[in-house]
Amino acid sequence: MMKPYGVGVIGCGAISRTYLKNITERFSILKLIGVADPVPGRAEKTADEYGGRAMTSEELLNDPDVDIVVNLTSIPSHYEVTKAALEHGKHVYSEKMMADSFGRAKELYELAKEKNLRIAVAPDTCLGGGYQTVRKLLDDGVIGTPLAATAAVVRGYLPAGPESGWLSNVFCPGGTIPYDMGSYFINALLTIFGPVKRVSGFAASTKKYFTHPANPNYGQELVINDPDSPNLMQAAMEFESGVLATLTAADAGTMLFPEEGITIYGTKGRLICPDPDLFGGEIKLCVAGEQEYRVIPMLHGYSGQETAFLPVPENEDPRDVIWRHSRRGIGVTELAWALRNGRPQRLSNEMGLHAIEIVHGAATASRTGVYYTMTTPMEKMKPLRPGFIGPDAEAVFDD
Ligand SMILES: NC(=O)c1ccc[n+]([C@@H]2O[C@H](COP(=O)([O-])OP(=O)(O)OC[C@H]3O[C@@H](n4cnc5c(N)ncnc54)[C@H](O)[C@@H]3O)[C@@H](O)[C@H]2O)c1
Repeated sequence: MMKPYGVGVIGCGAISRTYLKNITERFSILKLIGVADPVPGRAEKTADEYGGRAMTSEELLNDPDVDIVVNLTSIPSHYEVTKAALEHGKHVYSEKMMADSFGRAKELYELAKEKNLRIAVAPDTCLGGGYQTVRKLLDDGVIGTPLAATAAVVRGYLPAGPESGWLSNVFCPGGTIPYDMGSYFINALLTIFGPVKRVSGFAASTKKYFTHPANPNYGQELVINDPDSPNLMQAAMEFESGVLATLTAADAGTMLFPEEGITIYGTKGRLICPDPDLFGGEIKLCVAGEQEYRVIPMLHGYSGQETAFLPVPENEDPRDVIWRHSRRGIGVTELAWALRNGRPQRLSNEMGLHAIEIVHGAATASRTGVYYTMTTPMEKMKPLRPGFIGPDAEAVFDD
């Protein structure tokens, strides 16, 4: 048996559990070496539960058995943790976005290029059954030539206490809704349509307040001093393929479910695609001449019923149920197979940079009143082959 790739996880917060479950249980190409977190006891507790060793970040970065650092820190730490990992010669899989600004993401991209290392950036839901099936339907011409797409994510965030990761993850530069939730839609659009040529849009920052009574700043206005981080955005994208798409991202101040997906309009039909925050979901197709939509079965296996609507057993936190069913981690696995087979990973370094440039571009266009021409090239991802993804996923990733 070939040697697995060693994984070190930095950041043992909320989302680390779903990664660690999948990394340790689902994929034989990955081996968990260690976990690190500055909060006392957090790495130890995580190692007890999932294996690997509790380490400091420094120890983890210096461990020769770690090939891939999985950066699951909150947004303000993405840049420094990824930079340190690259400087230690490690490949990186980072939670979205690559950094807290396009400028700092570009620095990381250049550093990775100079060192011939990979940075794959989440979300990896675009590698799931839902959007890989959508990609196949489009590639097979089921709706003719795609012309346009609309996408919208309008939701809020739970009131956050001082202990909560939500505060530092969402209400910070590079973390507002066009980045946080918008990234799922952007990665899905890049997966199915390829690179964007120009971006335009309108953006604004609506007033927000600290709403958790336990927060010392309770009642005060929450100001994010960054013109590139609005919390209300209407972006328009012109893809190199000619497809035109819009993305509405708005922090509505309340939790609103269900979240919507993406609708795609083609010359011969229309597809209503699932919420790209999920690996599965429902795909509905209507072709010219038909009056009704029909549900299309998933052609790719990695779909899991990761959904907010699963029955929640009594005494269980609904978020635990979602995490247990989530399939995050496929992007790390795909990166490992890409390294083994000497090809670029599907969540390519270029795609990670392109994704953050889209939000930066729309915010810039809104400020200047001028279309923003994208500066970062990206190749359209190779689709996954249809099929089930088991512990040895090579067959669907590589020919
Ligand atoms: N929570 C979710 O549902 C969710 C879902 C998808 C993606 N994400 C993304 O995952 C990332 C982490 O989110 P989370 O919800 O787990 O946040 P969290 O705040 O619960 O956890 C982040 C962890 O990172 C640690 N950390 C922060 N800075 C660090 C540093 N410099 N070095 C080492 N460790 C550091 C913190 O101590 C904390 O334990 C964010 O980018 C977020 O957007 C979160």
